[in-house]
Amino acid sequence: MIRFRSVRKRYGALTVLENVSFEISAGDFFALLGPNGAGKTTIIRILLDFTQAGSGEVLINGISSRLPSARKGIGYLPENINLPAYLSGREYLRRHARLSDFSGKEAEKAIDRALETVGMKSRQRSRCGTYSKGMMQRIGLAASLIASPQILILDEPTNGLDPIGIREFRMILENLKGQGVTLFLNSHILSEVERICDTAAIIDKGHLLIKDEIPNLLHEGESLEDVFVRLINRK
Ligand SMILES: Nc1ncnc2c1ncn2[C@@H]1O[C@H](COP(=O)(O)OP(=O)(O)O)[C@@H](O)[C@H]1O
Ligand SMILES: [Mg+2]
Repeated sequence: MIRFRSVRKRYGALTVLENVSFEISAGDFFALLGPNGAGKTTIIRILLDFTQAGSGEVLINGISSRLPSARKGIGYLPENINLPAYLSGREYLRRHARLSDFSGKEAEKAIDRALETVGMKSRQRSRCGTYSKGMMQRIGLAASLIASPQILILDEPTNGLDPIGIREFRMILENLKGQGVTLFLNSHILSEVERICDTAAIIDKGHLLIKDEIPNLLHEGESLEDVFVRLINRK
């Protein structure tokens, strides 16, 4: 479904991605892990064609991710979103629906569905400026879900959330599982990744160190955190 082939990326003299290759299958819940600055967000930005690889290619369902048609079925929640404080959650989602070319009636239905999924129906008419961080993330997630994406890309969605917020977010993702959506998750909350995701890759300084089904990554008795520390310390 998603395929990175020998992707390299530089910013000036700095090599950010070095020969990165991996695949994600349809329906997979995939997590990309790595220290800050490892290149995780850059990988997502290349996948979305916000920035371009120096060499190599990225395919989505066999089509180059440079082509808009390849990226049609993608929902994306960026790192650190800022919702406009003066709009209500519903108004914000309406803006998104307009971008997806929905008719008025379709848009309202899609918004209802997305609000239901993220559990924000009761607060939809409050201004975003009054939302907690967890509510903002849930509205951000709703926005990424509006067009019923095949591929959902979330860049550190639980960053800065309290433990309850993290747990609620996990439960929403668990509910999406098995509905055909493919998840690409960047996260530092390894215990959550271990519970939600099927496969994980670890990247460090632009090098992809490993990618496998999570049970295969864990040596006897190890948690994902142990694997992370073992692999990152080895470098
Ligand atoms: N637009 C940019 N210009 C220059 N350097 C960048 C740019 N974007 C990212 N970088 C650098 O690329 C590296 C990887 O960044 P990033 O992909 O954001 O890491 P991660 O998401 O894993 O924390 C970092 O060293 C970062 O400073
Ligand atoms: Mg990042």
